[in-house]
Amino acid sequence: MKKLKVKKNIKKLFIIFIIVSLFFSVVIYSSIKIYKQKEYEKTYEYKLTTIGYTEEETKIILDKFENTELEFILNNDKNNYYLSLLKEKYFIYDKFYDYLNYLKDNSEKPLTSIVEFVNTNTDKEYYSETYQTDISKKELMLVNKYYYLDSSYEPDELIIIPTSHAWGEYGSQKVNKVTYDAFLNLWNASHEQGYYLMVSSSYRTHKKQEAVYKDYQDSRGTEYADSIAARPGFSEHQTGYTIDMFEMGYTQKTFHTSESYNWLINNAHKYGFILRYPEDKEDITGYSFESWHYRYVGVEAATYIYENKITFDEYYAYFVK
Ligand code: DAL
Ligand code: ZN
Repeated sequence: MKKLKVKKNIKKLFIIFIIVSLFFSVVIYSSIKIYKQKEYEKTYEYKLTTIGYTEEETKIILDKFENTELEFILNNDKNNYYLSLLKEKYFIYDKFYDYLNYLKDNSEKPLTSIVEFVNTNTDKEYYSETYQTDISKKELMLVNKYYYLDSSYEPDELIIIPTSHAWGEYGSQKVNKVTYDAFLNLWNASHEQGYYLMVSSSYRTHKKQEAVYKDYQDSRGTEYADSIAARPGFSEHQTGYTIDMFEMGYTQKTFHTSESYNWLINNAHKYGFILRYPEDKEDITGYSFESWHYRYVGVEAATYIYENKITFDEYYAYFVK
């Protein structure tokens, strides 16, 4: 009888033990779950989804942005500009706020143009903010209306272009060695097609550029001069990597109508040259279309620029700087 009672008590205790264990398991499990949820709610991932970003959009944002920008994004309503900007091919992380600033006053512009203008500084007035050119980039150095060369800058090794290939007296047309070699290859290839290219301008000293600019300014005024010539220090001609050329029998004005021009713009990249001031990129380059002005940047950059129809200014911002 006593034995049976003990057995019953053990059974009872066991059941109580199971119930208590179950109870605590449920409590612990729920607490962990609540804790995990609370922790998750502190993450950017959660916060972004609560303001309407989808899982995929959240992933893209988290992948590209760091804390400061994430806080900024969270403090604003869901704004498709951020995502669309991120998807832009030439989006540069450090310029995120510049894009947004420029967008404020230029909301009619497509985002691709916003990125293009900000990347190339053309969101600012020409010559309003200027920086010294990084000459260590060699053939990829940028000289434009924002990047300048000191008046003392001279290319390392200048080679004379023979009068068979250039206008003017012997010694008046020079470029640096790498540009000269590339030019000869290009010239020979164009000659095989039956063309005869002649160089009309090449390396120019700072002083020479002063005269070129001043001539235009004196004869046609500053606005015109700025559309066709660089201010001293801001000309690529001072780099030694630039050649103005057009076919014999044509002028700078008529060259764009020639077959040789068509050949040149579609083949120059194979020799490392680009048409530097194309017809539809005036806003970015700051210059009118110059069918005659070619810049040596090397085959890789020239091919990319040609195939993607961008300017060197854009290429520099995204790939070189
Ligand atoms: N014509 C080009 C822009 C220069 O003067 O360098
Ligand atoms: Zn030129």
